[in-house]
Amino acid sequence: MSHLANRNILLGVTGGIAAYKSADLVRRLQDAGANVRVAMTHGATQFVAPLTFQALSGNPVHTELLDPGAEAGMGHIELAKWADLLLIAPASADFMAQLAHGMGANLLATVCLATTAPIAIAPAMNQAMWSNAATQANKEVLINRGIHQFGPGAGSQACGDIGEGRMLEATELVALCSPLFAKKTLSGKHLVITAGPTREALDPIRYISNNSSGKMGFALAQQARLAGAEVTLIAGPVQLDTPWGCKRIDVTSADDMFEAAILNAKKADIFIATAAVADYKALEIADQKIKKSTNELTLSLTKNPDIVAAVGNSKHRPFTVGFAAETQDVISYAQDKLKKKNLDMIVANDVSRSDIGFNSDKNAVTLISADQQITLDIDSKMNIAQKIIALIASRLAL
Ligand code: PMT
Repeated sequence: MSHLANRNILLGVTGGIAAYKSADLVRRLQDAGANVRVAMTHGATQFVAPLTFQALSGNPVHTELLDPGAEAGMGHIELAKWADLLLIAPASADFMAQLAHGMGANLLATVCLATTAPIAIAPAMNQAMWSNAATQANKEVLINRGIHQFGPGAGSQACGDIGEGRMLEATELVALCSPLFAKKTLSGKHLVITAGPTREALDPIRYISNNSSGKMGFALAQQARLAGAEVTLIAGPVQLDTPWGCKRIDVTSADDMFEAAILNAKKADIFIATAAVADYKALEIADQKIKKSTNELTLSLTKNPDIVAAVGNSKHRPFTVGFAAETQDVISYAQDKLKKKNLDMIVANDVSRSDIGFNSDKNAVTLISADQQITLDIDSKMNIAQKIIALIASRLAL
């Protein structure tokens, strides 16, 4: 369900190759029922012609700050007043810097200064520009000022680099904008969530781990925050930016994650265990690098503590949600875990599939509780997360 129906969204497009994705974004926002107008920087017009956005949005595109024609109609103040949301996608490093410093050198920057509507940015740039200290400092300024930041995602980039800096897909951005207009169903609630893998050291340079990217857990954290919750995200080693408005605690091993989870779950209303915690760790971690002196090597492993079971069985337990990563008999194994770990809900996913689950942008899940079973077909992890959070909120409201 989208909350964008009849909302006025001013899409700000700044200069970057990701501007081509914004053409699709216009359509996806309109599909969700929004009225869309587009303002472009001059840089953006070098990548995509304003005519493209005019044809897609059905409205004139705004590019000039000092435009006598526009000032009589949709000038910067009128645009600022018209918008219910300003979505800057892509937001370039340069535009983030302008925004952080309150500059008004072009139409879009001026509208950002003049509006009282919420502003959301979807950064898109080369990975080195994203990790540059100046961009990171600007990002902090903008987040502290209440500007929503959606993404960036990680992956291969137009310039050939690999890393963080990709603009989120149009459907993901729509899934992130919609909750901005929704009732804050988790307002006043504290949600603690684990995400990503754990690493269990064998010696100073080697470890046991798995392919969890953290995407599912980070999407849930972001959707819970947008639903009004205070969110503590306990993250294993992943390459993802902290979701907007969430408090993040970085951990490495299952023992570290256990300690952080137990401490924070005591104050939580909701606990979600998305992390792919390593089931076993080395009985002893070698002080020095293990030498390959024999043809065979036997490792002695011991079980890690079960984090979600410990939370589920604690005295003042929060509403506790686990995930079940299965490769066969998905539903029945998930039902077993629901009971054994004393959970309120379990989210089952089939991790034998390559199009969903571990390290994919998509998932397909079945939500199982004692009295209910709901299947969510394949969709972006952001959309799946929005639906899981909505269901948890509805269970808490009962
Ligand atoms: O991170 P992504 O790339 O986005 O991938 C998402 C995902 C596939 C990792 C996610 O959707 C998922 O399925 N997470 C659970 C992974 C897992 O370890 O499942 P499990 O069936 O082995 O464990 C069941 C539950 O117990 C999970 O909630 C797990 O977090 C929890 N657990 C397991 C072991 C342990 N020692 N402590 C735990 O808390």
